[in-house]
Amino acid sequence: MLFRHRTSRLEFQPPTRGEELIRFEHLKKSFGPKRVYDDLQLSVYAGETLTVIGGSGTGKSVLLKCLIGLLRPDEGRIVFEGQELTEFREEDFIDVRRHVAMVFQGSALFDSLTVGENIAYPLREHFPHMPPEEIRERVARKLELVNLPGIEDMKPADLSGGMKKRVGLARAIATDPEVILWDEPTTGLDPVTTENINQMIRSMQKQLGCTSIVVTHDMMSAFTVSDRIAMLANRRIVQVGTPEEMKASTVPEVRAFLDARRQELWTQEEAR
Ligand SMILES: Nc1ncnc2c1ncn2[C@@H]1O[C@H](COP(=O)(O)OP(=O)(O)OP(=O)(O)O)[C@@H](O)[C@H]1O
Ligand SMILES: [Mg+2]
Repeated sequence: MLFRHRTSRLEFQPPTRGEELIRFEHLKKSFGPKRVYDDLQLSVYAGETLTVIGGSGTGKSVLLKCLIGLLRPDEGRIVFEGQELTEFREEDFIDVRRHVAMVFQGSALFDSLTVGENIAYPLREHFPHMPPEEIRERVARKLELVNLPGIEDMKPADLSGGMKKRVGLARAIATDPEVILWDEPTTGLDPVTTENINQMIRSMQKQLGCTSIVVTHDMMSAFTVSDRIAMLANRRIVQVGTPEEMKASTVPEVRAFLDARRQELWTQEEAR
């Protein structure tokens, strides 16, 4: 992949579907006395949607943050397309974030900017010489992709929660990233909007060929969108498998987590 506007240490080759794209190797991370990972290992393959599940505070968000350089692991390596990110300097991560984009939990839109300006923001940041017509055209195309055509002039305050999430997605994919990170994409959304976001995650894979890493509490969503699911517990990944393999898991941590979730789902159903 060529960088049109700046040189970079990240010499990215277009990934071949199914090849290993990201590898977390022997990761260790602590915050003071709190050990988050002891020896975390995980591979992510190009074109797949991988969901990371696990209890609250097990380090799901920290994993995504380590990948884009918002946090640094204490030990171990993170390899992305053969490049060791753990050796990267702060400024090198700017380029990483063009290839690996995060859809933040609260959508994190700038309230004072219009929808169009929000989506244009990463384009101006990464491509300072991009002509205004091209920016306008790209913004319009991304809004079409998330099924919100023509809303460039609206302000975030005028949007519903689901629309904000989709605008957040449009902004994340503005730079045509290869990898999309989703932190709790369906938390706090109603069932219809949740279904809509699940479809968006699938369609990013189908339409754009993106690799996705999804972090969620929502097992319905995990079973719907994932090619593979990885379970984080006891400071490591205890199992990775297809949704079917996870449902049939005999690994104690996975069993306990799924059984607790199943009870929650039943309670939710009964409450309706
Ligand atoms: N910047 C930080 N400084 C100190 N501790 C942190 C920091 N970020 C995360 N932690 C701690 O690391 C642990 C893992 O946090 P993380 O946010 O990854 O959990 P999580 O699995 O995403 O949880 P949740 O499901 O509640 O979002 C938690 O104990 C958290 O308090
Ligand atoms: Mg989290």
